[in-house]
Parts: sequence; C-alpha cells; structure tokens
Amino acid sequence: MTINAKLAIRPPEAADRGQWAALYLAFLGDVATAPARTEVSGRVWGWLLDPAHPLQGLVADVGGGALAGLAHFSPKANPFRGRDIGFLDDLYVAEAHRRQGVATSLLRAVLETTERAGWPVLRWLCGQDNAAGRALYDKIAGAPSHVVYGLPTGPRDAGFADVDCTYKNGWFATFGGTRP
Ligand SMILES: CC(C)(COP(=O)(O)OP(=O)(O)OC[C@H]1O[C@@H](n2cnc3c(N)ncnc32)[C@H](O)[C@@H]1OP(=O)(O)O)[C@@H](O)C(=O)NCCC(=O)NCCS
Repeated sequence: MTINAKLAIRPPEAADRGQWAALYLAFLGDVATAPARTEVSGRVWGWLLDPAHPLQGLVADVGGGALAGLAHFSPKANPFRGRDIGFLDDLYVAEAHRRQGVATSLLRAVLETTERAGWPVLRWLCGQDNAAGRALYDKIAGAPSHVVYGLPTGPRDAGFADVDCTYKNGWFATFGGTRP
C-alpha cells in the first residue's frame, strides 16, 4: 500500500459540498431512489456543518482540495459503561483511490478523534457480504464479537430499501399488524 504524500485527513468545509455529495451519493449507491438520496445527502451535509449536531465527519483530501473519501461518526450512549462510545456510521473511498491506504488513514483519524472525545470504544457495522470492508476491518480489529439485529418499526422510509434491518415474514403479524 502506497500512501499519497499529499493525503490530508480533515473536517469537511463549506467549499467541499459538491465533492462530498458525489462521494456520499456513490456510497448510498442503490439503497435508495435518486430523489431520496439527494434529499438525504442535503440533510446530512447540514448535520456535518452544524457544530451542535452530534454527527461528525472527516474527508480525505488528496491535494488541492480534491476529495477521495469520507468518514462519518457520532457518539452513542452506552449504558453498559455509563458513558458515550463512538460509532462509525459511514466509510467510503472513491474507486480510483482504493488500495492506497485512504480508508486506513480515515479510520486512524476517527480513532484519534474518538480518543480525544473520551469515548472508550469505536464500534461499527459491516455487511456480511462486503468483502472489501471485511478485509479492511479484519486487518485492524479482531473477529466480530456480536451479531446485529434490526427490525423496521413501521411504514417504509420513503425511497429506501431495508438494507440495515431484517425481519421474518410474520413479524408484524406476531404483533398484530402488517407492514404498510
Ligand atoms: C472498504 C473500503 C472503504 C476500503 O478503502 P481503501 O482505501 O481501499 O482501503 P485501504 O487502502 O486502507 O486498505 C487497507 C487494507 O484493507 C484490505 N482491503 C481493502 N480493500 C480490499 C479489497 N477490495 N480486497 C481485499 N482486501 C482489501 C487490504 O488488506 C488493504 O491493504 P493492502 O492494500 O496493503 O493489501 C472501500 O473499498 C470502499 O469505500 N468500499 C465501498 C464502501 C464500503 O464498503 N465501506 C465500508 C463498509 S461501511
């Protein structure tokens, strides 16, 4: 892995909006319809630039403001420890910049921020079938210690596929309803 000497990991700035949006829309891929993706990316950009919002971001600048990747993370209350821990929400590197250590550099910076914030653990999810993600994470973390369950709670999120929750046919029937 050769890391670009110009690579800088930094928080996103207002001028990054167009490039950040292109990366985030690519990350969202086909999990949502185009209008839903556009609406969500506008909302998330607002969160990232709002110091009062818990979501934080980092971008990988490969020189002259050209962005190659992004990471988003936030605190999560962890009653087990009685304090917040860090949760890595999104990690994405543009295809042309992969296998050059960009994600590793983003992860390192997220971990440093997590440590500075006093969150004792950083957690994240990875799709079971995401070979690249799992290869990256298997290199830096031990085997996953938990499985993750997810259930939809009601009407579908307009335009979004159920990619982060799974449920058995009959789940709603069990609780006396049907999925709208
Ligand atoms: C997963 C992803 C973030 C990796 O980004 P990256 O910048 O290419 O990762 P790095 O260059 O830091 O890779 C570090 C190591 O991880 C492993 N790795 C990363 N991608 C891999 C792949 N496609 N196949 C096998 N191993 C891989 C390798 O061991 C690699 O080291 P090496 O290149 O010296 O062999 C990128 O492929 C991506 O954005 N994928 C789409 C979004 C995604 O799946 N995000 C993560 C899950 S939410």
